[in-house]
Amino acid sequence: MIKFHKQTIKDVDVKGKTVLVRADYNVPLDDSGQIADDFRICSSLATLQYLQKQKCKIVIISHLGRPHGKEMKFSLAPVATRLSELLGEPVVFMNDCIGSEIRQKISDQSDSAVILLENLRFYDEEKANDSQFASQLAEASTASYFIQDGFGVVHRAHASTEAITHFLPSVAGLLLEKEYSVITSAMQHPEHPLVAVLGGAKVSDKLPLLEALIPIADCILVGGAMANTFLANQGISVGGSKYETDQSVQISRIIHEVTKKVGAGNEGEFLRLPSDVVVAKEVSETADIQTVSINNIGNQDLALDIGDKTVKDFANKITSARTVIWNGTMGLAEMNHFANGSRGVAKAITSNREIVSVVGGGDTADFALGWSSQNNKTFLHVSTGGGASLELMSGQMLPGIEALLDV
Ligand code: ADP
Ligand code: 3PG
Ligand code: MG
Repeated sequence: MIKFHKQTIKDVDVKGKTVLVRADYNVPLDDSGQIADDFRICSSLATLQYLQKQKCKIVIISHLGRPHGKEMKFSLAPVATRLSELLGEPVVFMNDCIGSEIRQKISDQSDSAVILLENLRFYDEEKANDSQFASQLAEASTASYFIQDGFGVVHRAHASTEAITHFLPSVAGLLLEKEYSVITSAMQHPEHPLVAVLGGAKVSDKLPLLEALIPIADCILVGGAMANTFLANQGISVGGSKYETDQSVQISRIIHEVTKKVGAGNEGEFLRLPSDVVVAKEVSETADIQTVSINNIGNQDLALDIGDKTVKDFANKITSARTVIWNGTMGLAEMNHFANGSRGVAKAITSNREIVSVVGGGDTADFALGWSSQNNKTFLHVSTGGGASLELMSGQMLPGIEALLDV
């Protein structure tokens, strides 16, 4: 496992101190404002429980959504309730994150209090990485240390990820350390064979990851709208399917790199595209579906999943892997009708407990966690980060990590 190059809460003496913890509680809310998925809250518990054992007063900050000013539907109040249930202790919610009143209220709390402050993004200064706002956060919190544990947001240089580190000694929490170590180990020192499974719809965002994987992977399996993009680029008709039209330069470069690695004529063996797809005329759970060869996609067809032959081929590759990196669903997997390919990938990965599996991407993580709980099978690591895990896997520096104290 790669050694983390930043100090963590275990490297500093936090005993009995007040600490300011940045979590990523940007959780999905349903139409009635209820938390639809508490994975990110659950994932923050290890750090909070460690700090509780160290008898810290814990002040937590986070953002939720992308509000314009104080939009109360983005209040973190429901998160405080859920966090309190999970911790089995009261969590004090405060309706602001800066100011002398908040500072006073925090001072008035007991030495073992857990406090959650209101949404940082109610202030535009948060996203602007504003120094004065960061100083106000540090001041109001009364904290001696800043602890970055919001892995999902460390790809952003914001006041609560970057500027704040200029005002308090800043170290990583346990979730951040685990995410960093597992993801970078899988990318830099994988057990081979390493099989990467890429898909989803954000094709241009994910091509840099695909490129970063070429030198290290033994095989790359491509599904979802990303596969449609590659097929269309080869001149195959994909009908009305979702794909990105302007990726030919990046795709040519990728194919060139693949040829360099595996030799002309072997590209399709290394970078595997679907041989068949599931098509429908509309996106609906009740649509008629058909599995067709990629050469028989009709003009009105939408390719919404990989076909059975492809699922078998991908599963074969996956089951013989020692490491699997999965980012992007194989189809429109939020609909049961088009989730067969993603189910096949999940089943293959979890069929062998020896496989080191790292799952990234918001929709992919949702799918994997849902599938896990229904099937009682687990992945080694499902990341809490969407953009953050993608950027870390692609080898980029993340400002919220780099700003922390070096080991
Ligand atoms: P992640 O959130 O895991 O990073 P993306 O956001 O890139 O993944 O992609 C997931 C989305 O891609 C899902 O909403 C899914 O419905 C969509 N998707 C995947 N394959 C297809 C497809 N063939 N056609 C239409 N949408 C697709
Ligand atoms: C995420 O959900 O990816 C993080 O919480 C970051 O949110 P953002 O994309 O709104 O900055
Ligand atoms: Mg997504």
